[in-house]
Amino acid sequence: MSRFAHITGWGMAAPERVLTNDELALMVDTTDEWIISRTGIHSRHIADKGETTASLAVEAAIRALAPTNIEARDLDLIIVATSTPEHIFPATACLVQDQLGAVKAGAFDLSAACTGFIYALNMAAQSIRTGSIDNALVIGSETLSRLVDWEDRSTCILFGDGAGAFVLQASERPGGIYSCVMRSDGSGGDLLTLPGGGSKHPTTHETVDKKLHTIRMNGREVFRFATRVMASATREAAERTGWTLDEIDRIIPHQANQRIIEAAARGLRMPMERFFVNLDHYGNTSTASIPIAICEAVESGEVAPGNKLILVGFGGGLTWGALSLEWVEPERKVSVIARRRRRLQVFLARIRSFIRRVARKLEGIIWGTSTHPED
Ligand code: ACO
Repeated sequence: MSRFAHITGWGMAAPERVLTNDELALMVDTTDEWIISRTGIHSRHIADKGETTASLAVEAAIRALAPTNIEARDLDLIIVATSTPEHIFPATACLVQDQLGAVKAGAFDLSAACTGFIYALNMAAQSIRTGSIDNALVIGSETLSRLVDWEDRSTCILFGDGAGAFVLQASERPGGIYSCVMRSDGSGGDLLTLPGGGSKHPTTHETVDKKLHTIRMNGREVFRFATRVMASATREAAERTGWTLDEIDRIIPHQANQRIIEAAARGLRMPMERFFVNLDHYGNTSTASIPIAICEAVESGEVAPGNKLILVGFGGGLTWGALSLEWVEPERKVSVIARRRRRLQVFLARIRSFIRRVARKLEGIIWGTSTHPED
């Protein structure tokens, strides 16, 4: 019996604060016209003090779970694709697992820069199709604004914050995620990097002075690489699925730069109407860009059940990839009461998490195993 991995729930979260190009022009030497003509970006969302990669991920996940027939405790796996994790460890996915109350789920982060969401979707879909799990939550979440050099006009204009989440479930009905192309070329790792804070350059006064903790990018080289791989990866994913380019209803590209998407369209000899673009009001949200784009495309009716889609992305690493999927109508609609119950369960999960922390500390004091008495 064949098993398919269907996307049964999707949700997104974007910070309320919007930063326009005109506001940026007050911070660095740039203009609204330059940014729009070179990138297509008009504005981006920027996380508030209280918002983090995990909190945006949890919000997107709650929305993604809402229309499904499962609850957080039914999840077997949570993958958070991110370039801006809360910590080197623990994984942001574990924080999300805890806050959702997904008590049966394994959880890990996936680091493949902006291509991460495609890689993560493929990993989760493979696990479902092989029968090793039934339900997965895949999230792309970023707070890039925290790692941008706000004095570097060539990078700070590009990025934005946000999160998008998909719930994947096993089904016997054909559809859902089919094929994936995953590629990398580490020889180009220095083209887009955040050098400091890892084991090679642990944080010191010197690394801070040298600005090793903010994003560094060779924009022209990344641009050249991106225009080359977007079309080839799309072609390969379509071929592997047995689709011709004409059969593809819509391409959902990584939302980095309007000109890169236009170059991909030219490379594929496809009209721009077949590409979904919303980078004008989000900027580049890295791993979150593709799921946010799909949420908006479904919302606006530009993606509908039965549509054949290719998701295609590129990013630091260098990494790139494309994934084919057929959008399917979820099997079951869920009542408003059930949705509200889910919200309540998340609230209860937070209380449970708090109680577990307190209980662990008390146990540590009683057994003398508390290694961080100051915590
Ligand atoms: N405002 C005004 N002028 C600027 C700005 C700015 N914000 N930024 C750069 N310039 C200037 C440069 O200094 C340069 O001036 P010069 O000719 O006097 O030296 C001039 O504009 C042209 O600079 P380029 O870098 O050649 O500009 P380009 O047309 O390549 O656009 C951009 C720059 C937008 C960064 C482009 O290269 C790009 O989009 N590259 C891809 C970046 C990308 O997608 N990165 C994300 C990858 S995904 C991930 O993993 C996070």
